[in-house]
Amino acid sequence: MHRAAGWVLRGVRNPPKTRSRSGTARSPPRGLVYGQHGEPSAVVQLKDLEEAKLGGSDVHVKMLAAPINPADINVIQGTWRTRGVFPEEMLLKVPRDIPVLCAATLSVNPCTAFRMLSDFESLAPGDSIIQNAANSGVGQAVIQIAKASGIKTINVVRDRPDLPKLVETLMALGADHVITEEMLRKPEMKDLFKSIPKPRLALNCVGGKSTTEMLRHLQPKGTMVTYGGMAKQPVMVPVSAFIFRDVRLRGFWMTQWRKDHAQDPAALTSMMDSLCQLIRRGQLTAPACTEVPLQDYQAALEAAMKPFISSKQILLL
Ligand SMILES: NC(=O)c1ccc[n+]([C@@H]2O[C@H](COP(=O)([O-])OP(=O)(O)OC[C@H]3O[C@@H](n4cnc5c(N)ncnc54)[C@H](OP(=O)(O)O)[C@@H]3O)[C@@H](O)[C@H]2O)c1
Repeated sequence: MHRAAGWVLRGVRNPPKTRSRSGTARSPPRGLVYGQHGEPSAVVQLKDLEEAKLGGSDVHVKMLAAPINPADINVIQGTWRTRGVFPEEMLLKVPRDIPVLCAATLSVNPCTAFRMLSDFESLAPGDSIIQNAANSGVGQAVIQIAKASGIKTINVVRDRPDLPKLVETLMALGADHVITEEMLRKPEMKDLFKSIPKPRLALNCVGGKSTTEMLRHLQPKGTMVTYGGMAKQPVMVPVSAFIFRDVRLRGFWMTQWRKDHAQDPAALTSMMDSLCQLIRRGQLTAPACTEVPLQDYQAALEAAMKPFISSKQILLL
């Protein structure tokens, strides 16, 4: 089985030269493929690929450029495995008393939530924050870490048939308010701000309308941190938000934070200690999840790509 940048290829051979519409000979498509996990520069090879047959509404696309993202590198290196050998300095000890699902999900989402709540605004108990995709893994960690610090959360989610159930789940985690994206535009938002101050911090993982509407509720001089783009739409900011409210737009990427703090291991240890303390005290739990035996990985991969799942797929290795 060969794999190439998100596509699984059933075989690689040298197909004969084909002809384009104009009748000129066309070289076979080429791609970077790998047949086993390992260091990308060692296992990835440039190969001729089978020419796909055109049918129905298929479109033949010529690719011009493609980025190599960190997530692509991780997939080629092999991330989901039962055992592996790593340099000691790459590893961080997780205390034995941390439940395995918390440990498995600790290093990305809770760390991202922790940093975004700490590094952009100095929030005091009673302050509020607003976030979209609040039912995501990061969002659930934000709710819990904020609650443990006395910070109020306004949590925006997409509408869905089982909304009351989702609201109940997020409230049980410690959410102060759970609203839909549509609600952000309604005058009733004024009522909400009678009992809670306007947020100083907005956490954006969506983009598009959801973000523009969320930004309207940010305090003057408040900060919006973008860390994801689930809607695959750009962030649109009304000019008035800059001129009359002087909002700050920032971004966050956990991988970059780790690189920036590579020479400061105490910063990572201190964050992990704080998160483990919250877990021990029952203030930070693993995200809502579905435990899947490794051999059922295909079902888990399919579920992980579906909308409105509200459950992190965890492979049991
Ligand atoms: N910058 C960083 O360092 C960093 C770190 C961790 C994660 N992230 C990013 O943060 C995002 C969330 O990660 P996660 O692991 O927490 O994800 P997750 O648990 O899988 O949750 C995905 C979330 O995205 C929402 N969503 C999906 N499509 C959407 C759309 N079109 N419009 C609005 N919401 C949509 C889902 O809501 P529904 O229930 O409505 O489908 C769900 O809340 C990802 O984009 C990830 O890459 C970034």
